[in-house]
Amino acid sequence: MTNPLPRSAAEREEHVLERSGSEAEVRVAAEGAERKEGAGGEEGDGRPDAGTGAGYLQVTRAAYDTVAASYADLLADDLAQQPFDRAALALYAELVHSTGADTGTCTRTGPRIGSGTGPGAGPGIGSSTAAGDDAAPPRVADIGCGPGRITAHLAALGLDASGIDLSPAMIDEARRRHPELTFTVGSMTDLDLPPGELDGIVAWYSVIHIPPAEHRAVYAGFHRALKPAGQLLLAFHVGDERRVITDAYGHTGLRYDAYRLRPDRVEQDLAATGFAHVARLTRAPIGREGSAQAYVLARALPAALDH
Ligand SMILES: C[S@@+](CC[C@H](N)C(=O)[O-])C[C@H]1O[C@@H](n2cnc3c(N)ncnc32)[C@H](O)[C@@H]1O
Repeated sequence: MTNPLPRSAAEREEHVLERSGSEAEVRVAAEGAERKEGAGGEEGDGRPDAGTGAGYLQVTRAAYDTVAASYADLLADDLAQQPFDRAALALYAELVHSTGADTGTCTRTGPRIGSGTGPGAGPGIGSSTAAGDDAAPPRVADIGCGPGRITAHLAALGLDASGIDLSPAMIDEARRRHPELTFTVGSMTDLDLPPGELDGIVAWYSVIHIPPAEHRAVYAGFHRALKPAGQLLLAFHVGDERRVITDAYGHTGLRYDAYRLRPDRVEQDLAATGFAHVARLTRAPIGREGSAQAYVLARALPAALDH
């Protein structure tokens, strides 16, 4: 079965909602109701509970393993058409470069010019200074990297970017499409990263698959992996609801959760786990997107100042 193509990155999930005409295909629950439903299993169909408990990771992994190839094809050139996405990533890359310089972790003061990942996708920002040319580029992990398109863009912006994803099939796609970069299977709920080594973390439409009650634990894990002043960038759909998705990227019969998130709650959770607020960009929906989109930047405070 062929689904109509999403026309933007944020439509990845919204697309699923728009094309679905019935509650049986896509269910949307208020967050309060979601907790109640999650405790007892939503459908009673014998499948792992998609909403809460240990089963949701298994459910999400299985879904993304199924859609990995079609997702990678559909989104391959998407960034070239997304000025807000590119702007958020360019700003983030510049902050990571300059933070590294400020903290002595990197002497580079500006990103290298790169060609980007497609037409219109070039970083379009200034070159590094001569003083920084011998320094190792800042290390950034793209967590929930999928097929690695954002990871590759971060690398084109002069960062030493690698990717981590829950789905082995997504990691296979990422390795095949970007053999020059490093990709690893792993979960943001249980990161296997040395403490305090990263200059930055990006989680681009990936924390949307974690129940909001678990977000602080995830952000605490991000904080542990970052150097002091390391930069975090999150992108997500704005809202306050859980959606159960059964039909996506040309596949039917799926069942996994995606959460729209309130930016103020995300920022509260980040503050509670040791991050200083840096910036928030929200934008109105474009095209068939069913919600606003948010990009949140935060900076890791030194551990002693966490609370
Ligand atoms: C909507 S896709 C976004 C992929 C990529 N960031 C992009 O923009 O193309 C969500 C990704 O998050 C991954 N993911 C979901 N839960 C995860 C977890 N607990 N740890 C790591 N990755 C996860 C999925 O496997 C999927 O590849």
